[in-house]
Amino acid sequence: MPRYTKKDYPLVDIRRHLETGPIVLVSSAWKGQTNIMTMGWHMMMGFSPALFGCYIWEQNHSFEMIRRSRQCVINVPTVDLASQVVGIGNTSGASVDKFEKFGLTADEAEEVKAPLIRECYANFECQLHDSRLIKRYSLFVWEVVKAHVAVSPVRPKTMHYRGDGEFMIAGATLNLRRKFRAGML
Ligand SMILES: Cc1cc2nc3c(=O)[nH]c(=O)nc-3n(C[C@H](O)[C@H](O)[C@H](O)COP(=O)(O)O)c2cc1C
Repeated sequence: MPRYTKKDYPLVDIRRHLETGPIVLVSSAWKGQTNIMTMGWHMMMGFSPALFGCYIWEQNHSFEMIRRSRQCVINVPTVDLASQVVGIGNTSGASVDKFEKFGLTADEAEEVKAPLIRECYANFECQLHDSRLIKRYSLFVWEVVKAHVAVSPVRPKTMHYRGDGEFMIAGATLNLRRKFRAGML
């Protein structure tokens, strides 16, 4: 068993240890305009319906587009798109067409008006499920209504943000399936 020496840690930095889900690109459409933002603060909230929660800062151009359209697409990039991930997170859709600037292709979605990003490994079409936490926490609760996932690779090299400009890339797999109760898989 590992033994650690621990010290008090600044609360503003705990994100470095807790936000390591895959970085995603959120695409949106409103009144003829499309946009993309980079996002790390999200979580699954239910199996069926498939619920997904995420934090969208109200100062982002995406915020009003998404709040008004009540739709978005959650796109999962792999490390091949690292420079786009950072560029998209450091520019505002108020002044830049990010599909054009970052060389990405907008494909039509099936259930929502927001576009799918073709170059991403997976795309999840979302309809707003619950708006009650937006005002208070900027937290959007989505129902994923359609999912598109690449057939290979089976284990994509997704990017996981560690704060301070550093990303962890998905790597080794540890399969402990035989130790799981069937209902917990
Ligand atoms: C690695 C990374 C993670 C980010 N995570 C989030 C997030 O979870 N929520 C959020 O509102 N903004 C997040 N941002 C910031 C937005 O992507 C950024 O403000 C972007 O410029 C918003 O674009 P927009 O103004 O066109 O909507 C993140 C940026 C980066 C680079």
